[in-house]
Amino acid sequence: MTRSLRFGLVGTGHWARITHAPALASTDGVEFAAVWGRNAGAAAGLAASYGVTAHHDLAAFLAGVDAVAFAVPPDVQAPIATRAARAGKHLLLEKPIAISAADADALASAVEQARVASVVFFTARFQADTRAWLAEVTATGGWAGGAAVWLGTALQAGNPFNTPWRRDRGGLWDLGPHVISLLWASLGPVRSVTARAGRADITHLVLRHEDGATSTATVTLSAPSSAGHTDLYLWGQAGWSTAPVEAPQPVIPLRTALTELAANARSGQVSHPCDVQFGRAVGRVLAEAQRQIDAHPSP
Ligand SMILES: NC(=O)c1ccc[n+]([C@@H]2O[C@H](COP(=O)([O-])OP(=O)(O)OC[C@H]3O[C@@H](n4cnc5c(N)ncnc54)[C@H](OP(=O)(O)O)[C@@H]3O)[C@@H](O)[C@H]2O)c1
Repeated sequence: MTRSLRFGLVGTGHWARITHAPALASTDGVEFAAVWGRNAGAAAGLAASYGVTAHHDLAAFLAGVDAVAFAVPPDVQAPIATRAARAGKHLLLEKPIAISAADADALASAVEQARVASVVFFTARFQADTRAWLAEVTATGGWAGGAAVWLGTALQAGNPFNTPWRRDRGGLWDLGPHVISLLWASLGPVRSVTARAGRADITHLVLRHEDGATSTATVTLSAPSSAGHTDLYLWGQAGWSTAPVEAPQPVIPLRTALTELAANARSGQVSHPCDVQFGRAVGRVLAEAQRQIDAHPSP
């Protein structure tokens, strides 16, 4: 019988509690073994609900696991994940993988040098319905362009995702990775981006893909609750095709991501369509968009 991969969870916030912990506890071939959090009480509480070990000391946490799942802000994730990779741990990363390009590069090279497996949880890329849509549209081909709009409401008062790094970084860094990942997978690698900001964190992107197709994306976290909306479609000779992008039960795609990471870890396969290298490539598009927005602030 194959031994389960022992996972530790970094983070004790809302997303860790509603998605990572339940997925880790319910995925075949995965053993939920430990929780690390900067808040010792929150780590103890979450660990106790699953009968796993709580840690405050990162070295002790890493020593007891084969793999680490992350549910902390990107600038917190990157240095801990780099240390975990250097210690030979496989990584289930959240998007975006980092904020700074230097952190993203350090993480990607640590993963490469340690030859550990990595998967970045671009949620829709692990949903069965979105995967079926991607298989269909990539087989069809001939798409001239695409358009995405994600009007998120996370920055409304009382929303559990109204967290400091989202207030600081906005829709570009929180929702941008999901949208770029899907447009990349459906229309081909992104070769350049043009970005401009609207009010608040409203961000508009024009993406140019490798074969000349172009796509646009509008993302924000500060839409009023009445205007929350997500839409992504392609258009071309075949007409237009809308992606199923909602993930009402994110535990299910996360189980898929964990299963695929565990399979790669066991077989020694380090590449995955959503591995850390892909996460870094998406991060480069975000960083270039941010550079342009900073150079052309909204009037
Ligand atoms: N794939 C998806 O669809 C999806 C959906 C939602 C979230 N996410 C990702 O999941 C991650 C976590 O999101 P979240 O909504 O839970 O909120 P968050 O604010 O990003 O993370 C909350 C957790 O991070 C901890 N934390 C914050 N700053 C820290 C620091 N400096 N050092 C150590 N720990 C720190 C918090 O600890 P305290 O409790 O002590 O503050 C809490 O445990 C993000 O990367 C986000 O992009 C992905």
